[in-house]
Amino acid sequence: SSTPVIAIDGPSASGKGTVAARIAAALGFHYLDSGALYRLTALAAIHRGVDFKSQQEVASIAATLNASFLEGMILLDDEDATETIRSEAIGEGASQVATHPLVRQALLQRQRDFQRDPGLVADGRDMGSVVFPNAVLKVFLTASPAERANRRHKQLIAKGESAILTDILQDIEQRDARDRARTVAPLQILPDAKLLDTTQMGIDCAVRQVLNWYAEII
Ligand code: C5P
Repeated sequence: SSTPVIAIDGPSASGKGTVAARIAAALGFHYLDSGALYRLTALAAIHRGVDFKSQQEVASIAATLNASFLEGMILLDDEDATETIRSEAIGEGASQVATHPLVRQALLQRQRDFQRDPGLVADGRDMGSVVFPNAVLKVFLTASPAERANRRHKQLIAKGESAILTDILQDIEQRDARDRARTVAPLQILPDAKLLDTTQMGIDCAVRQVLNWYAEII
């Protein structure tokens, strides 16, 4: 398909979700939050009492996932899961189920189905490497672990949740390590990706940079 895809990959809490959604809005493109599919798979596994380690069972849950993405709202089995899937526990579960090749395979076509006119912005870990290798623009968006932990901490406090900065930093480093070390679709900086380090950069600036890169290639 010639429908353009902008792939935005990077580690957790790098701000890529916010940046990707803003770019999609600016261009009038569709938006795929691929991490949400892994998070929904983890949530559905919990609902069904399935162990994250049971690859076959989790893969069959992923293959039959009854999920809908509405404007700013995510449904699982017709129930609002938008907030539920953002918890640290579900993020942790997502990164465990995401290590299974059969789970990744089960979600592959569902992700590719998001590629529709006039274009798509997709964020995740393997958008540029596996799901959309022909993406017209690949961005690796990151920030230092300390800065990412700070941002996540602020978010949690703003939501009225209790959070300990050092614990968050440890979780982030653990999840990054798992995402980088896995054998299938690891988080990696592709040779054809543009690197965007937002450690000392606001959201607006990051969005502008990606839009500028896109404007250069079309
Ligand atoms: O991006 P997000 O934090 O929502 O992703 C949750 C987890 O899902 C990640 O830690 C990662 O292990 C997994 N994931 C993945 N491939 C993607 C998107 C997310 O393996 N394309």
